[in-house]
Amino acid sequence: MSVTGARGLKKWALTGPDLREGACPQCDNLRMLVEKNVPLQAFNTFHIVAKAHTLVRIAHESEVHDLLMHPEWGAAPKFVLGGGSNIVLTGDVKPVVLKVEIKGQRLVAETAKAFIVEAGAGEDWHDFVAWTLAQGYPGLENLALIPGTVGASPVQNIGAYGVELQDRFESLDAVDLQTGKGFTLNAAQCAFGYRDSVFKHGGTTPASEAVHQVVGLKDRVLILRVRFALPKPWKPVLGYADLDKKMAEHACTAPTAQQIFDWVCEIRRAKLPDPQVIGNAGSFFKNPTVTPEQCADIIARDPKVVHYRLADGSVKLAAGWLIDSCGWRGKSVGQAGVYEKQALVLVNRGGGSNGLGATGGEVMTLARAIQTSVYERFGIRLEPEPVIV
Ligand code: EPU
Repeated sequence: MSVTGARGLKKWALTGPDLREGACPQCDNLRMLVEKNVPLQAFNTFHIVAKAHTLVRIAHESEVHDLLMHPEWGAAPKFVLGGGSNIVLTGDVKPVVLKVEIKGQRLVAETAKAFIVEAGAGEDWHDFVAWTLAQGYPGLENLALIPGTVGASPVQNIGAYGVELQDRFESLDAVDLQTGKGFTLNAAQCAFGYRDSVFKHGGTTPASEAVHQVVGLKDRVLILRVRFALPKPWKPVLGYADLDKKMAEHACTAPTAQQIFDWVCEIRRAKLPDPQVIGNAGSFFKNPTVTPEQCADIIARDPKVVHYRLADGSVKLAAGWLIDSCGWRGKSVGQAGVYEKQALVLVNRGGGSNGLGATGGEVMTLARAIQTSVYERFGIRLEPEPVIV
């Protein structure tokens, strides 16, 4: 049996009864490290207390293949964990948790039209955005300070201040967790929508074949690396109310990418809780889209409803405003609460090193109570944004 783990950890370094090496009698040459009964509180930004029955860290593509060859865990159901910034854990996780720690960031190509930049799925999103700016590749600045990893960014099609990931996406490399085959997806194959993609929907066709049919890839692929096309020449994306205010405050009409980055960080810090201080998963619900008739009905009853007309004629409503106007801001169920400064964000009022804090059950009870009251008042069903595990 090998005494060295994938990242050079000697066997003696694996202390405690809950850690053991992945090698087994049937497959002597496995190099991965398998951890048992791993607390996940530090691995989800809501800081919900739960355990992974089995956790494997994936720092290299080869470790996915090692895992798939494993007689016990190879065929077992799997759950891919990035930065844990968009999940609600409702109990211990029974599928094998694959904690993605694939690193690396580089300029792949520079064309007349764009910088093509690539990052490993395990890179921290915000650090990656900061790195692109420092290298002179602007274009991601509106997406500054979004918690999570690069690998999770296409799953959620993250977006903020007028830019969505799909506007800067070039392609990604992934592995089919059933067959071990690698493949590349372009933007069309990712089927991006508002906080949505092919990775959030289920399906039955083998993933590496399914990519040609754009069917669901939920829990069936592991994203290895993502490439972004950052357009040249760079143009600022403005026109969002909060950014307009910053421009007026600074009497600035032509901000640089770095200024926009700094302003976005300031805006987010002012209204969104820092997950390192108060557990949360960002916006808890999607902003719902309604028909113009539905919107007119709501305006007739509540003229102040915050709404935006979309290009296709439908109307997007601010879920934060709907929740706020139902009186939820600052309210709690147990240790789960509605953030005082932004009603769209649910927070963990406990947690920390003592291990106490909101359970996934409390968060979901609060979420359902909010959904019910918004439905009863406005006839609109709010849809959760994070993945409920
Ligand atoms: N509002 C209230 N009360 C509240 C919260 C919001 O009246 O308690 C009103 C605000 O005054 C504003 C409107 O609702 O007029 C919209 O609020 P905000 O500008 O904060 O944006 P949002 O629609 O709540 C979305 C994204 C955020 C993103 C911001 C900025 C979703 C679900 N959320 O929030 O994304 O940062 O726009 O682009 O689309 C995330 O996905 O986790 C996230 C934080």
